[in-house]
Order: sequence, then C-alpha cells, then structure tokens
Amino acid sequence: MISTDLYQAAQLLYHNQNVAIPTETVYGLAGNIYSEKAISNIFALKNRPLVNPLIVHIGSRDQVEDLTIDVSELAQKLMDKFWPGSLTLVLKKKETVPTIITGGKDTVAIRMPNHPLTLKLLQLLPFPLAAPSANPFGCISPTSASHVDHYFQEKLPMVLDGGSCQNGLESTIIGFENHQPILYRLGAIALEDIENEIGPIAIKNFEEQHPNAPGMMARHYAPNTKTIMTSNVKEVLHLHQGKRIGLLLFDTKITDEKIVHQEILSEQGNLKEAAANLYAALHRLDALPLDVILVERFPDNQLGRAINDRLKRAATAKNTI
Ligand code: TXA
Ligand code: MG
Repeated sequence: MISTDLYQAAQLLYHNQNVAIPTETVYGLAGNIYSEKAISNIFALKNRPLVNPLIVHIGSRDQVEDLTIDVSELAQKLMDKFWPGSLTLVLKKKETVPTIITGGKDTVAIRMPNHPLTLKLLQLLPFPLAAPSANPFGCISPTSASHVDHYFQEKLPMVLDGGSCQNGLESTIIGFENHQPILYRLGAIALEDIENEIGPIAIKNFEEQHPNAPGMMARHYAPNTKTIMTSNVKEVLHLHQGKRIGLLLFDTKITDEKIVHQEILSEQGNLKEAAANLYAALHRLDALPLDVILVERFPDNQLGRAINDRLKRAATAKNTI
C-alpha cells in the first residue's frame, strides 16, 4: 500500500514490521535495527545474502554515539559538512549494534538521510532504521514509491510516499583504514566534493576484496533486457540491425528508425539532473519489449563517474556472474 501517513509508518515499524521509506538517494526497505524479526525479513524480502551489511539511518547526531566508538575528527568533519545528506560513513561499531546488521564486521555504516518525511519519521522513533535500497537483490534501485510497489506489492505492508528521489543515486560510502579515508562506493555526492573538504581519498577496489558486497558486485542495478554500454552509440546502432533498440543518452537525441524508444537524461547536459533521472529511465526502458538497450558512457568526472559505475554494472552480461 502506498501512503503518506507518517504515523502509520511509525506504528508499523514500532511493531517490528517493514516499511519502504523515501530518501533523497533511493527508496529504502526499512526496519528497526534492534528487531531480529524486522531485519531478517529485510534480507528475506530482498533475497539478499546475510553476509551483506546494511546501512543504519539516523535522525540526529546524538545517535552516532549510541552506535559507534572512536569517531575521528575527520569523520566528525564529514558529518558536519554532509549530513543530513547522501554520505554514508563506515565507523567502528559498539557491541550493542546487532551483527546481523553489519554482516559480522566490527564496523557499522551510518547516514542521516536528507528527506523531510523520513527525517521526521526517524526523529519520532526510539530506534534507528536499517534500510538497504528497496529492490530485490541485483535489480534496478527504486526512485519512486511506485517502483517499490511494483517490486514487492502485498508482501510489504506500506510504502511511505515521499515523491521522486531528488538525487537518484545511492549514497557515497567512505570508511577509514589506519585513520586514512577510503572510498568504498561512488555515489550521489561527487568524490571531488568530498576531497575538497578533506584532501585526497584512496579508492579501494572493493569488488576484489569483498565479492559478496551488494552494489559492489559486477552485475547489479541491472535491467532484465540485454544492456550494452558504449562511448559511440551511433556506431554500435549499426551492429544491431533488425533488433528492437532502446537508448539511454546523456543530453542529445539520435534520429534513426531502428530506435523504438530513447531516454535523454538531461537536455541541459547537467550531471545532477541526469543522475536524478537515471533509474526511472532504466525502469521505463526495461518495461518495454526491447531486444537491447544501448547506454551512453558519461563524462568520467563528478557525478558522471558514479553514473558510469552504475551503467557498467547494469551492462555486465548476465552470464559473467
Ligand atoms: O543511498 C543509500 O545508501 C541507500 C538508501 C536507502 O539510504 N541505501 C543503500 O543500501 O544503497 P544498500 O544496502 O543497497 O547498500 C549498502 C552498501 C553495500 O554495498 C554494503 O556493502 C555497504 O553499504 N556497507 C554496509 N555496511 C558496511 C560496512 N560495515 N563496511 C563496508 N561496507 C558496508
Ligand atoms: Mg542496493
């Protein structure tokens, strides 16, 4: 059921149920971090392996102290600058944080989302909410209440409707190793913007070291339709004679009778607007009877880099995993 009733959402969560919540990045599938029932149901609904840790969502900075130990000045600085917002920090966890949330690790991923409805919900509840993106494991992330409803229907008691997600890409994830900041996932806050605050950040090839981490797997965020990424869409079009072709393009339309449908992510060539439109466009393309989706490689800087990361994963052939 799709609803804007904040109090009903709070009631359900209070009684160990799951509710999909809007955030400025993507919709999350939420549950009380201290409720074993609510958390195991998140994994079951998503069909997600238990080793994959969840992000803990908080509504006020005090809650960081309930969840973590040894928060460095650098981490505090990042919270000051980017919270509420699309930055997740991986910090040393307190023993009281259930290990089912952290995949058995001694760290916990935390963020304060920047969505008015969800912030209010988090401030109403006496516990934080674990919330992975509200899609079945490996599928395209949801950026509207109807995307979530389409995936889970009556299996989920409620989708709290907060409109379309403004940023449209998952949060950027930063951790710390030997007191140095490490990027674990590109996301809705450009790496350059974080480096402007704290200097250079090492990038870990997370995929090699944690092949089970969702969002880090080669094929993820993926449409069902065969998807090909290219820097030259016009050229690749010719290789697909006789096929029903859909296109996902940055800013310029292509005229060609082979094209069944095309999505232009930002006519102004604005990366932020393109990011916000990305998943909804992929959902629309995937709903059409197409043989192939050709996606254009983005400029590899700022949010273009995070968009390319998601497109690359969407385009990884099914038989490579
Ligand atoms: O924008 C977002 O981050 C959304 C919204 C709902 O907040 N959530 C989201 O969650 O994308 P999910 O579960 O789809 O991705 C969580 C990522 C995973 O790649 C996981 O491996 C990483 O966070 N993660 C969680 N806890 C971690 C930890 N302790 N150490 C390293 N990575 C962690
Ligand atoms: Mg996800």
